[in-house]
Amino acid sequence: MHRLEGAKVVLEPFEDRHLHDPNYLQWLRDYDVIKTINRADYLRPVSFAEVKAYCEGLQRSPNDMFFAVIDRDGDRFVGTVRVAQLNWRTRTADLGILIGDRESWGRGLGTDALSTVGGFLVGRLGLRRLTAGLMSVNPGMQKVFERLGFKVEGVLRGHDLFEGEYIDHILMGCMADEFTSIQ
Ligand SMILES: CC(C)(COP(=O)(O)OP(=O)(O)OC[C@H]1O[C@@H](n2cnc3c(N)ncnc32)[C@H](O)[C@@H]1OP(=O)(O)O)[C@@H](O)C(=O)NCCC(=O)NCCS
Repeated sequence: MHRLEGAKVVLEPFEDRHLHDPNYLQWLRDYDVIKTINRADYLRPVSFAEVKAYCEGLQRSPNDMFFAVIDRDGDRFVGTVRVAQLNWRTRTADLGILIGDRESWGRGLGTDALSTVGGFLVGRLGLRRLTAGLMSVNPGMQKVFERLGFKVEGVLRGHDLFEGEYIDHILMGCMADEFTSIQ
C-alpha cells in the first residue's frame, strides 16, 4: 500500500498501531463524530472487537484501501480515509472520510486528505470516476467534495434516519477531468 503526501496531511496505510491508538475508539464513540457517517451500529456504542473486525476486513479487501490521516502539524493521527468499491473494470471508486479529532475540524485537513487521495486515484491509478455519498445534514462534507470538483448526481429522498427524522441521502460524483486538486 502507498504512503501519500499532501500539503497538510500524510495518508499512510492503516495499521494495527492505528487500531490500537486509544483515540481511534474514542472517536468512533463520539456522537458528534459518528452521527453523520450513516452507521446505526456505531450509535450503541461500537465495541473494540467490532472495530477490529471492520479494519481487518478493509485491510484484507482487494476492493478497498484504508488510510490513516496524519496531521503534518504535530505528526498526529487525526482520522481515516477509505477508498471503497474499487473497480478496475469500470475504473471507479467511492471515497469516505472521518476526521475524528474534532479540534482539527475546519483546518482544511479533510479537503487536503481527499484532494491527496483523489489525485492519486485519478492521476496515478488512472481511475475515470470517483463517487461519494453523504447525509443531507452534513453540509461541510458536501462543500469539501464540491471544492474538489464533485457534483450532486442524485438525491435519495428520505433515505437516511437522523435523530428520529427521515432525511435525504446525497450522491456525488466526479469524472477524472473534473477533479480539482487543492494545494
Ligand atoms: C466532514 C469532515 C470530513 C470535514 O473535515 P474538515 O477537516 O473539517 O474539512 P475542511 O476543514 O477541509 O473543510 C470543511 C468545510 O466545511 C465548512 N463547514 C463545516 N460545517 C459546515 C456547515 N454546517 N455548513 C456549511 N459549511 C460547513 C467549513 O467551514 C469548511 O469550509 P471552509 O474551508 O470554506 O471554511 C469532518 O468534519 C468529519 O470527519 N466529520 C465527521 C465524520 C463525517 O461526517 N464524515 C463524512 C461522512 S460522509
